[in-house]
Order: sequence, then structure tokens, then C-alpha cells
Amino acid sequence: MSSVKISPSILSADFSKLGSEIKDLEKAGADLIHIDVMDGHFVPNITIGPEIIHKLRKYSSLPFDVHLMISPVHDFIKNFAQAGADIITIHPEATDNLNDSVKKIKSFNKKAGVSLNPETPVNKVIPVLNLIDLVLVMSVNPGFGGQEFIDSSLDKVKQLRQEIDNRKLKVQIEIDGGVSFENSMAIKNAGANILVSGNTIFKENNGNLKKNIQLLRTN
Ligand code: DX5
Ligand code: ZN
Repeated sequence: MSSVKISPSILSADFSKLGSEIKDLEKAGADLIHIDVMDGHFVPNITIGPEIIHKLRKYSSLPFDVHLMISPVHDFIKNFAQAGADIITIHPEATDNLNDSVKKIKSFNKKAGVSLNPETPVNKVIPVLNLIDLVLVMSVNPGFGGQEFIDSSLDKVKQLRQEIDNRKLKVQIEIDGGVSFENSMAIKNAGANILVSGNTIFKENNGNLKKNIQLLRTN
């Protein structure tokens, strides 16, 4: 599990200065930048859209890990691809045809992710597992940062790890929500390779980004 990647969520950043926040995350050793897009319909919160992502693009060369919590998502995929997303992750509940939406993401040469809400079973992603680059396991109900980690998501990570390894696929497993210094070890041991974190990275140790990223990586 030495190659775990850290994808800080800018949901916990200062939205009035996202450009410099992203620069700081890159300097602090982040591997990816996790960008939560919410529409007030699929989830009970509203964040940012493609125009802001496009404007942020020049502040970092790190991959933009764009988590779309919008429904219906299909017709917006192009906008996020053109805005500079590198990974586009969607929820199965947000599209009529998961296969078509995944293929659309891939048609723009972007990495495709599928996200599973806490109540969404692993079998929802199985039909497209050979087409995608990552599975994003939600360990909180999406919508807000700073929520408590739902322990049963570890079972989901283990189940996915087994399936992915058995089939010799290269799909990454990313976990999102309530990741802390206390649970990061268990998450890695369960088989996740990318940890998303908002509150822990921006709020712990007086917001020492470098220290917090390092601790999540090594804990
Ligand atoms: C929740 C978002 C998460 C969130 C994680 O809907 O998808 O990315 O920002 O934040 P923390 O780490 O604070 O739970
Ligand atoms: Zn997210």
C-alpha cells in the first residue's frame, strides 16, 4: 500500500481564493485535486461549475479529480472535460445509461470514475468495471464536508479490491468522506489507493497542509 495517493477536496478550502488554495495544495505534496461539483438536486448543496474549474486550471498542473454530484449528468460531461478535468466521476443514479456515460467520458480521453453512495451496492459498478479507471467509494452521504466516516464502507472497499484483483484489472479505489488520521490505516489496509480528504487536510494542525497530507499518506 506504499503508493497511496492523496486527493485533497477543495470543498473545505476558502472559496474566495481557490486559485491560491490549489497552488498551496500542490506545494504541500498533494497528488490530485478533488473538486466536488454539486447541483442542489442530486445532493442538498450547491458548489461550483465548469467555468470555475476552467479558471482554476492554470493554478496547478496536478490532475483535476472531478466528482460530479449532478443529475442528469450525461449532457454535462463534455463541459467538464473541456474545462480541464482529468478524472470525471459520476454516480450511477445520475444517468439513464451508465455504460453510455462512461463511454462519453472516455471519448474525451479522460479517466472515468463511478461513485457508490453508502447505500449503493458494489454490484452497480460491476457491469462497467472493465471500462473504468476508478471506483469512488463514498464513506459519507454526499453533500457536505466534515461528516463522520461510515465504517461499513470498508467492507465495500475490500469487496472491490478482491473483484479488481481477481480480474487483474487496473481500476483504482478511491475513498471519499470522513477520512482521518485515525482511520487512514484501516482504509489503506482494506485496499484503497486514493484518499480524498477535506476537513482533515484543511483544519487539523491549524491547517498545516503539508503535515496533514504527509500524515494521511504515512499513517
Ligand atoms: C462530500 C464530498 C467530499 C467531501 C469530503 O460530498 O464528496 O469530497 O468534501 O470532505 P471530508 O474529508 O471533510 O469528509
Ligand atoms: Zn467528493
